[in-house]
Amino acid sequence: MDKYVIEGGKPLKGEVVISGAKNAAVAIVAATILCDEPCVLENVPEISDISICLKILREMGATVQIKGKNTVFFDTSGIINPVVPYDLARSMRASSYFLGTLLGRFHEAYVPMPGGCDLGDRPIDQHLKAFKSLGASDDMHAGIVHVQCEELYGGQVYFDFITVGATINAIFAGVKAKGLTVIENAAKEPHIVDLANFLNSMGADIRGAGTDVIKIRGVSRLKGITYAIIPDQIEAGTYMVMAAATKGDVLVKNVIPKHLESITAKLRKIGVTVEEFDESVRVCVKPDAQFIKTSVKTMPHPGFPTDMQPQLSTLLTLADGTSIVTDDIFENRFRYVAELRRMGADISVDGKVAIIQGVGKLTGAPVRATDLRAGAAMVIAGLAAEGETVIDDIFHIERGYENIDSKVRALGGNMIRKYFPDINAQAITG
Ligand code: EPU
Repeated sequence: MDKYVIEGGKPLKGEVVISGAKNAAVAIVAATILCDEPCVLENVPEISDISICLKILREMGATVQIKGKNTVFFDTSGIINPVVPYDLARSMRASSYFLGTLLGRFHEAYVPMPGGCDLGDRPIDQHLKAFKSLGASDDMHAGIVHVQCEELYGGQVYFDFITVGATINAIFAGVKAKGLTVIENAAKEPHIVDLANFLNSMGADIRGAGTDVIKIRGVSRLKGITYAIIPDQIEAGTYMVMAAATKGDVLVKNVIPKHLESITAKLRKIGVTVEEFDESVRVCVKPDAQFIKTSVKTMPHPGFPTDMQPQLSTLLTLADGTSIVTDDIFENRFRYVAELRRMGADISVDGKVAIIQGVGKLTGAPVRATDLRAGAAMVIAGLAAEGETVIDDIFHIERGYENIDSKVRALGGNMIRKYFPDINAQAITG
C-alpha cells in the first residue's frame, strides 16, 4: 500500500500549473450522455474520480478514448440500457449525475445510491424533488434509485436550501424537458456556470447560471463539440495555502482569479501577500512573518468554500491567537482534526464549530487522510511541519488532486509516494 512521505519545513518556491476542475469535470463527463454526437473534452484532470466516471460510461457501452494528456473523446451512442454499474457508482458522489443525464436521454435511470467522501449523511431528496417537478417518479430498491417518466415537461423547481448536486441534476433534466424549467434558489458555483457553458455550446438554452434563478428551454438535440474544462478553484486554493503555510513564494498558474476571491480575501486577512494577474496568482510570505488569527464561516459560492475549510484551518493552527471556524454545510467535516492533533495542533470541535488555538509550529507524525480535502490538509500540515509526516489512505487525495506529489516536488517540497508492505497481510502469510 502506498503512502505519502513528507519531510517538512522547506518553503515552497516556483510555479505550479492548476489542472481542470474535478467538480466541473465529473458533471460534464456525465453530460456527454445527453449529446447526440461524439464530443471531445480538454483539460480533463487525471484523477481517480474521473477514471471511475470513464469506467462507468465504458461499462454502459460508450466509446471513451484518451486522446493525449487531459484530452478525452466520448461517443455515448452505444449506451442502450440506463443502468449504472453498482460498485463503481457506490464509490463516488458524482454518480448521482447519471440520474439526470440518463433520465434526460432515456426517460429512465437506475443508479446505485451514490457514495463519495464520508462527510455525514448525504441525501438526494432535492435531486428527486427536481425530477418530480418535471414529471418523473422515483423509487428505491436494494440500494438502487430508479427514476422514470413518460415524458419530461418543463416545470418550477424550488430548492429548500442551496445544493450543488441537485442544481446540476435539475439542469440535466430541464435541458431535455419540453418547455420552460425555472430553477430557484440554485447553486452558483463556478462549475455550474461551466456546465451550462458546455451544454449551451452544444445547443442547449440555459440562462442565468451563476445566479440563483436558472431558466432552461428544453431542446430535442445536442450537437457534438470540443470543450475545455475550467481550472480547479479548490486545487488552486490548496496550493495557495500550501505556499502560505510553508512561508514560500509560489506563482499558481492557469487559474481564474475571480473564482479565488473568497480564498484570497481570507489569506490576506491572515497576513499572506496575494498578487492577482490575468490567469495566475502569486502567494508569498516573509520568513519572519506571523500569521494573524482569523474567523471563517463556510458558505455556498461566492462565500468561502467548505472544500477549502480543512486546508485553511491547518494554516490557522500556525497563527497567533484563537481562530473560530464554522462549517455547517456538511454534518461532519472536522474528522481531520484528530489527525492534526497528532502533529501538535490545539483544536477543539463543538458540533459544526472548531476552535483553533494557534501553536506556531507543527511536528511531523504518521497520519491518515480521512477524506479528500482532509487529505489535502495533511499534505499542507506535513510540508509546514518539522520532521517526517507519513500519510496513509492517500487514495482519498488522489480522487481529486492530479499528480500532487510531483507538483509539490517541482516547488522544492520533499514529498514522495512510497510503497509500504501491508503488515497485516504479512502476518497472515507468515
Ligand atoms: N443535501 C441534502 N439533500 C440533497 C442534496 C444535498 O440534504 O438532495 C445537503 C447535503 O447533505 C449537504 C448540503 O445539502 O449538507 C449541500 O450539499 P450539495 O448538494 O451542495 O453538495 P454535493 O453536490 O453533494 C458538491 C461537491 C462537494 C462540495 C459540495 C458543496 C461534487 C461532486 N461535490 O457536493 O465537493 O463540498 O458540492 O460545495 O461536486 C469535494 O470536492 O471535496 C467535495 C466534497
